[in-house]
Amino acid sequence: MNADKKKPDQLRKLRKEMEKIQDARRFEHTLGVEFTSAALAMRYGASVRDAQTAGLLHDCAKCLTDRERVSICKKNNISMTELEMENPFLLHAKVGAFLAREQYGVTDQDILDAIHNHTTGRPGMSLLEKIVFIADYMEPGRSHAPNLEEIRGMAFADLDRTLLKILGDTLDYLDGGNGDVDPMTRKTWEYYKEKAAHAAE
Ligand SMILES: [Fe+2]
Ligand SMILES: [Fe+2]
Repeated sequence: MNADKKKPDQLRKLRKEMEKIQDARRFEHTLGVEFTSAALAMRYGASVRDAQTAGLLHDCAKCLTDRERVSICKKNNISMTELEMENPFLLHAKVGAFLAREQYGVTDQDILDAIHNHTTGRPGMSLLEKIVFIADYMEPGRSHAPNLEEIRGMAFADLDRTLLKILGDTLDYLDGGNGDVDPMTRKTWEYYKEKAAHAAE
């Protein structure tokens, strides 16, 4: 079988594995992120397959317990911040990237980065990282985020503006006492705010 014919099988296999380890709601979300990542990749000329792979695997460590996530980090010398140790659910992106490589055989660094940075983003994100970050926020199964309709429209017109809007809304939500802010979320927001200000000059 040639390599191209094998590719859809790999996605199918990953989909099956996610269905096995995730509850029905989480799996539905996973498929939504896969689908939305693929659509954004088509719009912006990224690899659709890479977007599907990252979308499928982005929450592969979400179903672990906090204790399991911490233990994986300790055993594999994955650094943890104090905030992450106090809130191990924040580790699911980092541990997810680790499992994507070790357990699911992903070697492409951009896919691994897209999984690693899907909750906080980072300054200077790649196209694929932006796509998965945005897809995670707006996939069809999401219904509670503020400004969802506006964001869904904006995502197909201007990726950086969408990123900034999501980060701003997330910070507003977390600053409003709804959870701990990972400092990287603010850093990413500041970076893209600055970038937008320069673009407008
Ligand atoms: Fe996640
Ligand atoms: Fe997610």
